[in-house]
Amino acid sequence: MSGTVYLVGAGPGAADLLTLRAAKLLAEADIVFHDALVPPEILTLAARAERVAVGKRCGRHSTAQRFINKRLADAAREHRIVVRLKGGDPLLFGRAKEEIAYLRTQGLRVEVVPGVTAALAASASLGTSLTERGVARSVAFVTPRAGTGEAPSRWLAAAMAADTVAIYMGAHDAPAIVSALAGAGKRLDTPVVVLEGVSLPGERIAFGTLAELPDLVPGAGGPVVILLGEVYRQQVALSVVPAKAGTPSS
Ligand SMILES: C[S@@+](CC[C@H](N)C(=O)[O-])C[C@H]1O[C@@H](n2cnc3c(N)ncnc32)[C@H](O)[C@@H]1O
Repeated sequence: MSGTVYLVGAGPGAADLLTLRAAKLLAEADIVFHDALVPPEILTLAARAERVAVGKRCGRHSTAQRFINKRLADAAREHRIVVRLKGGDPLLFGRAKEEIAYLRTQGLRVEVVPGVTAALAASASLGTSLTERGVARSVAFVTPRAGTGEAPSRWLAAAMAADTVAIYMGAHDAPAIVSALAGAGKRLDTPVVVLEGVSLPGERIAFGTLAELPDLVPGAGGPVVILLGEVYRQQVALSVVPAKAGTPSS
């Protein structure tokens, strides 16, 4: 009898943003395959499990992906609880589809446990809603990134159609993002917020406009999510982040 592979969302990084189900599965797991973005504090919850790093920062190398698929299947034939731990939510920019499809073709059981995606954790840090009555009724989660050999991303059309935009994996392409959006008609004074390492101790937040985006993104460092839209106009003007009280136990 084979085990089950659980694709588990690790959230943005802070261990107390894991779901209870994720924490329980980690505690019970026999083996955990985790991404590069998952911090050690979360991995320690998998106290009895063998831990295997399979990190590809952006999950874009298909050979590596095939290797991961096979390792997950092999592990499920050997263990009862196999956790595939992915940053944020597994079903957003996480290549979950390939893993689920492969495991199903192998006749193996797969379940998904959702996690807090970066854009939602970023919104919580800002204390600003992605939507706002009369201002923003649509949100796009986009990435300009596409893997080698894949069709180019159609992120621009989605970003132009939405009122609020969350750009994943865009930090290294900031100048190209500005020219693409401006060329498509987005105003250069559109408010922008850049958040690095959301929910982690070194979280950094920078405010500005679309024109200023290349100067707002940090150089090397943690993961970065870019938010833009009119919902941020007042906060960008004030450049204020709400103070955090922390959780009652912290
Ligand atoms: C491969 S994608 C995975 C996204 C993930 N599945 C999610 O739902 O957040 C990695 C990208 O997510 C964003 N990201 C993930 N964690 C983040 C964090 N703690 N702070 C800021 N951005 C983050 C960054 O844009 C990063 O390059």
